[in-house]
Amino acid sequence: MREKRPVIALDFPSFEQVKAFLGLFPSDENLYVKVGMELYYAAGSEILTYIKDLGHSIFLDLKLHDIPNTVESAMRVLADIGVDMTNVHAAGGVEMMKAAKRGLGNAAKLIAVTQLTSTSEEQMREDQNIQSSLKESVLHYAQKTYEAGLDGVVCSAQEASAIKQETADDFICLTPGIRPQGAAVGDQKRVVSPADAYSIGSDYIVVGRPITQAEDPVKAYQAVYKEWNQL
Ligand code: C5P
Repeated sequence: MREKRPVIALDFPSFEQVKAFLGLFPSDENLYVKVGMELYYAAGSEILTYIKDLGHSIFLDLKLHDIPNTVESAMRVLADIGVDMTNVHAAGGVEMMKAAKRGLGNAAKLIAVTQLTSTSEEQMREDQNIQSSLKESVLHYAQKTYEAGLDGVVCSAQEASAIKQETADDFICLTPGIRPQGAAVGDQKRVVSPADAYSIGSDYIVVGRPITQAEDPVKAYQAVYKEWNQL
């Protein structure tokens, strides 16, 4: 299940910047990129068609959370666009996740966000009135995601092995917060290296600024690729 290509977070505010960034790579290089809310809302769905036409794979990170019928219809649109992976909030519930899966069909992988990594245990208790530990809540949501028939979850690398134990070995753990040795940590709180993510059992790693803000992004990508694939 492990995806060899590190997923590059295209956290750019405009179409032009994405074009310039992708233009740095050889034309036969098939990348896996993540399009998040900022870029999607700024550039619209044409950005997805543009990236697909270049031959790249897309993880569309919009974290849908709405009534099942609305999410199902939105997923049907995304299936037509041809994204490779997308996501919902597990907090939307099993019915919503099943509806999302129905809408998307087998056209793409579907994963869920459990608790956002920006949420502390204290905030979870106060804001969501969930009185268990944060880890229990993450595992609970992962279990519900599995039960709904989704392919996996977004999680921190530290949570990957416990999640797989609760679900299945082939349940995808996609992990952001990756920093190669020596890279700036930025605002990420807990980071792991690509090599550590490999040994912990992540299936996909998401890497943004260490590649997009590098002096030589292609070289930085290649270094992450090598570390992630133990080359
Ligand atoms: O630049 P950096 O490597 O920190 O980017 C990580 C990407 O993964 C960003 O797009 C960020 O929004 C996303 N992400 C994250 N932590 C999560 C979920 C998503 O860093 N828990």
